[in-house]
Amino acid sequence: SRAIKIAPSVLAADFTRLGDEIRAVEQAGADWIHVDIMDGRFVPDISFGPDVVKAIKRSATKPLNVHLMIVEPERSLERYRDAGADHLLVQSEPGSTIHLHRVLSRVRELGCRPGVVIDPATPIAWIEHVLHLVDIILVMTVNPGFGGQAFLPEMLPKIAALRRLCDERGLGPHIEVDGGQDAKTVRSTVEAGADVIVSGTGIFGAPDYGKAIAAIRDAG
Ligand code: DX5
Ligand code: ZN
Repeated sequence: SRAIKIAPSVLAADFTRLGDEIRAVEQAGADWIHVDIMDGRFVPDISFGPDVVKAIKRSATKPLNVHLMIVEPERSLERYRDAGADHLLVQSEPGSTIHLHRVLSRVRELGCRPGVVIDPATPIAWIEHVLHLVDIILVMTVNPGFGGQAFLPEMLPKIAALRRLCDERGLGPHIEVDGGQDAKTVRSTVEAGADVIVSGTGIFGAPDYGKAIAAIRDAG
């Protein structure tokens, strides 16, 4: 199996010490920095916007993996690109964008790596026609909107089916999993075909970030 990447989710960091938190997880072995953008519309809560992404970028050396849980991402792709996003992940649901194919093509044109996000309630068929456009498929393993929720094991067949579909088509995107991931869940998610693990509370909630990241890496 391929080497797994670990992406700590900044949502669970101490926002009063954001720069220190980013540097600490990078030193602890983070591969990507996962940045959750919430607009209070696609999901109930609001997190932060491009100015905070810009601040995160100043403290980070690893790629910023920016997860847009917002309506009409097409309206702000350039703002996030300019703020320093390396990857732009857009939700596939029509409640976010009604022109998914166009948005993903646009992300590529802007020079970012495109990713498509699929929620627990969304069937695989909904994203089958865009798999060739993306570098990353992000499978939500909780319902989006909050950190600290429990992993939904019923998403494992979805991960496996997506990996199979990509293999059949000769595509090799990253399959990233987001929500409730810890050292106990990663064995099953990696076995199903995931190779990037997002973890918020599992890392920032741990007393030792290095140990938390190593535990996830060893389990995968
Ligand atoms: C949930 C966010 C996640 C969240 C994960 O809507 O997309 O990235 O921060 O947090 P944990 O790892 O605590 O489930
Ligand atoms: Zn996320």
